[in-house]
Amino acid sequence: MGAPAARRHARTNCRRTTEPISEPRTAETTAAPPTLGLGQRPFRFTPNRRLLALEPTGREALDALWLGYTEAHGSPSLRQAIAALYDHVDAAQVLVHAGAEEAIFNFMNVALSPGDHVVVHAPHYQSLSEVARGIGVEVSDWRGDAERGWELDLSELERLLTPRTRLVVVNFPHNPTGFLPTTAFVHALSALSDQHDFVVFADEVYRGLELEPATRPPAFADVNARAVSLGGLSKAYGLAGLRIGWLATRDPRRFAALSAFKDYTTLCNSAPSELLAALALRHAGPLVERNLGLIRANLDRLDRFFEAHRDLFAWHRPQAGSIAFPRLLRGKVDEFCADLVAKTGVLLLPGTLYGEDFGGAFRVGFGRKNLPEALERLEAYLTGR
Ligand SMILES: Cc1ncc(COP(=O)(O)O)c(C=O)c1O
Repeated sequence: MGAPAARRHARTNCRRTTEPISEPRTAETTAAPPTLGLGQRPFRFTPNRRLLALEPTGREALDALWLGYTEAHGSPSLRQAIAALYDHVDAAQVLVHAGAEEAIFNFMNVALSPGDHVVVHAPHYQSLSEVARGIGVEVSDWRGDAERGWELDLSELERLLTPRTRLVVVNFPHNPTGFLPTTAFVHALSALSDQHDFVVFADEVYRGLELEPATRPPAFADVNARAVSLGGLSKAYGLAGLRIGWLATRDPRRFAALSAFKDYTTLCNSAPSELLAALALRHAGPLVERNLGLIRANLDRLDRFFEAHRDLFAWHRPQAGSIAFPRLLRGKVDEFCADLVAKTGVLLLPGTLYGEDFGGAFRVGFGRKNLPEALERLEAYLTGR
């Protein structure tokens, strides 16, 4: 199969090897869930009313919006606001997409051909490997070490590389472990990519949610001229419903190929979403700070909870993001999660959904207000009350 045919094949036949990790986002699921989904929807989302109130002319601008086709690369003001998040990327090097998900799909289809090899930081968000597999690419997992705070080992990456390795996919801050690399690690990985001629695709959609802002490593597109950084508004900004994500790269050939591919997916973005996204980014500080405040308070609660149950769980405090991946020390995670949801309505995501290697762990989201209530129910379940 030639490359264009393979890409068409990937677009229609992208196989899921496991059930989707993210929950369906229907109108009903935005209403109060019947269960306390600690393992699901780990965010508090921002209402449109709050967003428009950030600027006195916000509502007026939305009412007056022209609803024709928008600019294919993204609106100039939005691209400008996104570029301001980077040190060495300018607006012309930002390509706006319909959510990070479209950006992942398009990037993989542009960068990969059947027979290529890709290394993916694991455990991982499903589409970071499955789109590549759908194209006919061999995927190897580069596993974080649970015993060492989910750290990655560069010498292990070197062992995984083959002459066919085109891409190394990383996710910093990491979903689901909350791992955050040091700046030195990012530079060392960048140097390896030049030495072995692979490209780094860095999923940075959780960027901005570092618990200690001083620990934030540089974005990959800032560090390496061939790398591609993925960003979006769904996580730190709580604006998943806008469906705005982006790719940032200083590689002009890659940018042109990505731009051409997007002509066959969404072509251009939703005008209201672009307007609201630019508005949100102009007020990034307070929006992110509000979510970080909730995350910090919830994390303190989780610290206390897991300390009290250290005989049953191995807890590693995440360094960033709103998701953690503790391990169950006794019993089977699938059975624990199934029994828990049946008896209490608290839903945790078993690590087996990330692959058998991660079967001892489970995902906990702590970006929502209902965490204290869910923890109370969990506590009552454990103590048999
Ligand atoms: C690591 C990671 N990358 C990408 C995405 C997709 O983000 P979006 O909802 O903006 O498409 C998600 C969503 O959960 C994610 O967790």
